[in-house]
Amino acid sequence: MKTLLHIKSSIFGSEGQSAQLAETLISQWKLKHPAGEVVERDLVAENIPHMDQTVVTALRGGAAEHTAEHQAILQRSDELVAELKAADEVVIGLPFYNFNVPSQVKSYFDLLARAGVTFSYTENGPVGLIDDKPVYLITTRGGIYHETGIDFQIPFVKQFLGFIGLKNVEVVYAEGLAMGEIAEKALAEANAQIAAFH
Ligand SMILES: Cc1cc2nc3c(=O)[nH]c(=O)nc-3n(C[C@H](O)[C@H](O)[C@H](O)COP(=O)(O)O)c2cc1C
Repeated sequence: MKTLLHIKSSIFGSEGQSAQLAETLISQWKLKHPAGEVVERDLVAENIPHMDQTVVTALRGGAAEHTAEHQAILQRSDELVAELKAADEVVIGLPFYNFNVPSQVKSYFDLLARAGVTFSYTENGPVGLIDDKPVYLITTRGGIYHETGIDFQIPFVKQFLGFIGLKNVEVVYAEGLAMGEIAEKALAEANAQIAAFH
């Protein structure tokens, strides 16, 4: 059975434009995989822990003994890694907030970045340990940044995903969503691009 992992990160939940565009992709995917399973991970609703000394100790060790809090964080990280590894395809709804990813996405990446688990360093440099698979990034933006030289979001996300092994990344840019008539055209184009994926 095929699995599609849907990562949500809009502070507006299912009302967010990124989540709504992701739903278009999910509907298409379900038509192609009627017996498939969609696994939803809402990073905002689930309160992903922010990186601090407790989190880093949980993930990397360094304390004389792991407390219950450390164990809970490690278990959370293990679950997130396992579901990402198990997915056949991934769609990430990626709002553009203050020039970059929602902080919850950064925290999610911090929980995924585990030496020996999701990446390792070799004589030839870092190697990702997650098997490659299609990842669809749906970035929704009030303004327009793509190919302007000031889009720090997608290069960062692609760098991180590639580092853990995920290089097969397609990006849907829905831009100008706060720019009147441009928004309508941008959403129509984004939906058309998404419809062509499956
Ligand atoms: C807190 C916040 C910060 C934002 N920062 C930016 C920004 O830096 N540049 C931009 O073009 N749009 C910005 N926007 C607009 C969002 O990118 C836009 O509303 C997008 O559709 C959000 O996706 P969502 O609806 O899935 O949450 C911001 C919106 C919010 C709520």
